[in-house]
Amino acid sequence: MSHAAYPALRLRRTRATAWSRAMFAENRLHPSDLIWPLFVTDGEEEQPIATMPGVSRWPVDRIADRAREAADAGIPCVALFPNTPPELRSDDGAEALNPDNLMCRAIGEIKDALGADIGILTDVALDPYTSHGQDGLVGDSGYVRNDDTVSVLVEQALNQARAGADIIAPSDMMDGRVGAIREALEDDAHTTVQIMAYAAKYASAFYGPFRDAVGSGGLLKGDKKTYQMDPANGDEALREVALDIAEGADSVMVKPGLAYLDIVRRVKERFEVPVFAYQVSGEYAMIEAAAAAGAGDRDALVLETLLAFKRAGASGVLTYHALHAARLMVD
Ligand code: PBG
Repeated sequence: MSHAAYPALRLRRTRATAWSRAMFAENRLHPSDLIWPLFVTDGEEEQPIATMPGVSRWPVDRIADRAREAADAGIPCVALFPNTPPELRSDDGAEALNPDNLMCRAIGEIKDALGADIGILTDVALDPYTSHGQDGLVGDSGYVRNDDTVSVLVEQALNQARAGADIIAPSDMMDGRVGAIREALEDDAHTTVQIMAYAAKYASAFYGPFRDAVGSGGLLKGDKKTYQMDPANGDEALREVALDIAEGADSVMVKPGLAYLDIVRRVKERFEVPVFAYQVSGEYAMIEAAAAAGAGDRDALVLETLLAFKRAGASGVLTYHALHAARLMVD
């Protein structure tokens, strides 16, 4: 294709006015692009999270109000994360299988109040329930045991599905868990419950504030590098995604977000499946810190970063800014 050259071609022409910029925008943000992660506590008061200014843990009996705010703002789905009371955390994370745990009660509250007005995504991994903060069962050598962990994750996923979860999101990075969970969901008649696989999840320094929020940070010794991916790797992410799709994932996720937009783009181009990105807690904290320091305009930073995910090919974004961003989008 041959293009005109300057001065016949002036790319600034279409940028000259707001109406024209709107007309030529290649990507657009909409509240339905967003999934809002929410933290739940057994306590009776809202608990602000120091490392995530503006984000709190919510008591179970107030979680439905948050979901209602999200639905009213046009957000289609919330993601739930429990801060399990310390006395209920154990070596094997058995509380994850309790049908009356914080997660299941929160699901029930939202379903009772909102029904099908909003989707509920639940995280499958043992870290909010273990006394050591790892996502699975730890063997004598300290290595997280894959296949034994998968068996527990299957039970955790069933527990959530029975409580009413709409999307099961395994974030544990064990091999083979998506297929095992899919099979168990089919056998247990949860044929319409989706799986969004945290397919390319990296061992990242950006998860710190999240670990404060669910209370696993102080417990975790060492790191998660024997199961989460090496930030050096891109090709390996495509192999992870290929496996999860083959095992029955309805959608896949890349996490963290901004530092991994190349992975979002490669996955989208290679597989043509719905790809979601998780703009994680440390990314949220960076934007808030920049805004608080006067280094950038908060609303503009939020919208620009979210738009970047769309441009990279993401179908949607999990972000702690979801409610604020959704309200900005409709204003
Ligand atoms: C649990 C899980 C983590 C996040 C989502 N699910 C933390 C981790 O793997 O240590 C991080 C989300 C965030 O930082 O916002 N497996």
